[in-house]
Amino acid sequence: MQNKKHIDLQTKIIYNNHLTKNLKMKNIAVIGSGTMGNGIAHTFAQQGYNVAMIDISAPALEKAMATISKNLDRIVAKGTITEADKAATLKNITTYTIMAEGVKNADLVVEAATENVEIKLNIFRELEKICPPHTILASNTSSISITKIAAVTKRADKVIGMHFMNPVPVMKLVEVIRGYSTSDEVTNLIMETSRKLNKIPVEVNDYPGFVANKILMPMINEAIITLHEGTAGVEEIDTVMKLGMAHPMGPLQLADFIGLDVCLSIMKVLQDGYGNPKYAACPLLVNMVTAGHLGAKSGQGFYKYTAGSKELVVADMFRKS
Ligand SMILES: NC(=O)c1ccc[n+]([C@@H]2O[C@H](COP(=O)([O-])OP(=O)(O)OC[C@H]3O[C@@H](n4cnc5c(N)ncnc54)[C@H](O)[C@@H]3O)[C@@H](O)[C@H]2O)c1
Repeated sequence: MQNKKHIDLQTKIIYNNHLTKNLKMKNIAVIGSGTMGNGIAHTFAQQGYNVAMIDISAPALEKAMATISKNLDRIVAKGTITEADKAATLKNITTYTIMAEGVKNADLVVEAATENVEIKLNIFRELEKICPPHTILASNTSSISITKIAAVTKRADKVIGMHFMNPVPVMKLVEVIRGYSTSDEVTNLIMETSRKLNKIPVEVNDYPGFVANKILMPMINEAIITLHEGTAGVEEIDTVMKLGMAHPMGPLQLADFIGLDVCLSIMKVLQDGYGNPKYAACPLLVNMVTAGHLGAKSGQGFYKYTAGSKELVVADMFRKS
């Protein structure tokens, strides 16, 4: 005999399947065409969705289309897709600089604009006004509360986090973040949609840093503290974590790759959100960001970066004499 809990669960699943069947998912709007936005647009388009890629900057959109084309060339060269698949993928993407034009038929919006609370809240206030009532609004934010974003809309049940990883076409994980009021129906649909993109979604609740950054950022910060205290040098710290813990990349190299400004701002979100001094950013990280040493994107962080070279060279500041 089935117990009540089991029956409730079954009823819930049937109910949810019934509801999600009624929500179609065909037109996707991606807001922001930077590192993440172009990867998200690429990934949906390759699976046959109609994608509107939106950015306030026309040059950013041009650059994004060139990046997507180059990334598709790489997959064609590997034999994973054909030239015809590449052409079909590109054809599925239309670019817009005016948000209202890009989202007017959207079933799902995935916002991947600059990580700034005011920018994101303004975008969601606007989306509430210009999107059809059925549109699900997702954010790819790394650290901003989904509940806070949802609160500026009148559809908090349809606001959710869809946290893709960089590089999006390659990385399997989508951290699906349920805001305080996100409905089961919308969560199930986003989990299902993520699977249709050949990704592996993981459902988490909306607390500062979610799961990925709540664990990753303190580890990166601890690696910086270890360097700052002189326990070991840049290469030594990264080598211990690569060879000892089987991490594909050391934490200091990963910090450079993510951007030290981004790491600092996520540490601040953790410290503000949990009020625990264990999340205080290392003063060395603060100094590096203040000095404009932001990692790969600025040419200098824990390592130095020269265009056209893939060699990993420790930044002069951290070289042993
Ligand atoms: N870079 C990463 O590794 C990474 C990983 C996971 C999640 N994220 C998150 O993804 C989001 C985007 O990050 P990114 O690294 O792609 O940033 P990015 O700086 O590369 O791109 C941001 C883009 O947003 C555009 N933009 C800014 N305001 C806009 C607006 N009002 N309307 C439309 N477009 C606007 C900018 O012109 C720019 O092209 C952030 O929320 C970030 O936290 C980033």
